[in-house]
Amino acid sequence: MDTRVLPFTDESIAEAARRILAGEPVAVPTETVYGLAADATRADAVARIYEAKGRPSFNPLIVHVPDLAAAERIGEFNEQARALAQEHWPGPLTLVVPLRADARTASIVTSGLATIALRVPAHPAMQALLRATGRPLAAPSANASGSISPTRAEHVLRSLGGRIPLVIDGGATQRGIESTIVAATGGPLRLLRRGPVQVEAEPASGSAIEAPGQLASHYAPSKPLRLDALEARDGEYLIGFGFIDGEASLSPSGDLVEAAARLFDLLHQADAATQPRIAVAPVPDEGLGAAINDRLRRAAADRD
Ligand code: TXA
Ligand code: MG
Repeated sequence: MDTRVLPFTDESIAEAARRILAGEPVAVPTETVYGLAADATRADAVARIYEAKGRPSFNPLIVHVPDLAAAERIGEFNEQARALAQEHWPGPLTLVVPLRADARTASIVTSGLATIALRVPAHPAMQALLRATGRPLAAPSANASGSISPTRAEHVLRSLGGRIPLVIDGGATQRGIESTIVAATGGPLRLLRRGPVQVEAEPASGSAIEAPGQLASHYAPSKPLRLDALEARDGEYLIGFGFIDGEASLSPSGDLVEAAARLFDLLHQADAATQPRIAVAPVPDEGLGAAINDRLRRAAADRD
């Protein structure tokens, strides 16, 4: 794939918006770091973020929206959360709040969690893209897994060149470090990640459960889960893949982007089914398959 780098203009934003609406990820500057943005309402588009980054596991992603009103259509804001938003948005603060039942974000965005991380960015390029697409945009930092966060278009190109279609070049980012993350999910505010904005909140170290990237923060089904299942045993809800059919399939054609996109929905579906146990067909451990298997292994182990 050829990666184009276009300066931030009305035309490049229109091109970026077309790509996003076609389900592709696009790199775009924010005031913190460059983000790799995709339509947060489309699971396949979000799976392509993981594919491009070569990330070996899933992590809940930050969803960017143009303003507080748009954020309140996705998450539930209590008074504390609203006050923080009014003080710091647009800006480098991310708020983790309960996910609304009627939110249309894909479950892969939150790794199936009942909370969501929301941010209103200040950068004019990201703002323009949000308005041009009319979609909430999931965007982790635009670098390959394991490398440092990009603060210039050249950094993105070096890390993801050939893996994404487009980089919008808005020059060096102003802040250079990722946004502060605060959880406002009831009770005292908790600081999940330090960043450019100082907020009075309890450090999350005491509650490892919510620290970003922690296994326990990920959704795990409540039932026993058996991996590498070639067929369903008694009392199992089988999630198929490729030529192994089940009650439902991650991807009948064996497509890993599709499988990643359906993973969390199918885990929820299996959890809600009448069968007391879950089994999952083998998924090849390559590319996105490694992230899928990582998630499945944790789901199999984490249960209690
Ligand atoms: O500055 C930034 O925030 C950049 C730019 C591109 O906006 N974005 C960024 O996104 O850093 P990302 O997706 O890499 O950050 C995700 C962080 C992870 O540490 C994740 O664990 C945490 O946010 N997170 C997301 N949703 C969460 C949730 N529901 N509960 C707890 N932590 C969450
Ligand atoms: Mg990062």
